[in-house]
Amino acid sequence: MKRAVVIAFTLLFSSCIHEETVEVSPEKVNQVKTVAQEAMAKLRGELMKNFKTAISEGGLAGAVSFCAERASKIEEEVNSELNGIKVTRVAIKYRNPKHKPDKLDEKVLRFFEEKLKEGNLPPYYVTAIKKGGKIYYVYYKPLKVAPFCLKCHGNPENMDKEILEVIRKKYPKDRALNFKAGDLRGACKVVIPEDKLKS
Ligand code: HEC
Repeated sequence: MKRAVVIAFTLLFSSCIHEETVEVSPEKVNQVKTVAQEAMAKLRGELMKNFKTAISEGGLAGAVSFCAERASKIEEEVNSELNGIKVTRVAIKYRNPKHKPDKLDEKVLRFFEEKLKEGNLPPYYVTAIKKGGKIYYVYYKPLKVAPFCLKCHGNPENMDKEILEVIRKKYPKDRALNFKAGDLRGACKVVIPEDKLKS
């Protein structure tokens, strides 16, 4: 009984101190930027390569199926090769529940939204968190909606029926429709453990 109480208390306590943001010096920001951009290029390269093959084989509707079935796997594969660095995407209106933002993500996404409204969207945002005594740098790159994205993230009335059908089937709880060109779609996020910056 006593033990259970101790465990419950520890869990509660650790969830409170779980994360703490840390200030990042300008030279660290530059290092973070370089490492993050490399990781993002790797993910984007792999996704685009597979996406293009999927389009050539099955058109855009085929590409949607590809995204639904393979995108997460590719994300995992790329991450497994980054030895400790993690690259993913997050969005408030997410399609894949894996991209649901945590508290920090949400704060940064809201910040990007505000800045975009002011016509002042920064190209990236860097912060750091302390977790379990270790520092992790976190890099966010805002992703805006281009006209092309509307084929799969636009107003359903203007979208291809076949594409819409695949999306509805694969993502019954989809929130990523009804965007307009120029909107903030989400962000690419890279988490870098402190020791991965020095090498
Ligand atoms: C062919 C359809 C298609 C097109 C075109 C498309 N997307 Fe997506 N998008 C998807 C699918 C499907 C997912 C969910 C993928 C997954 O499960 O990882 C997704 C996920 C995302 C995510 C991750 C967050 C989430 O909602 O799960 C972002 C960010 C995103 N898309 C941005 C864009 C942007 C920006 C463009 C244009 C440059 C674009 N997409 C074009 C189909 C598309």
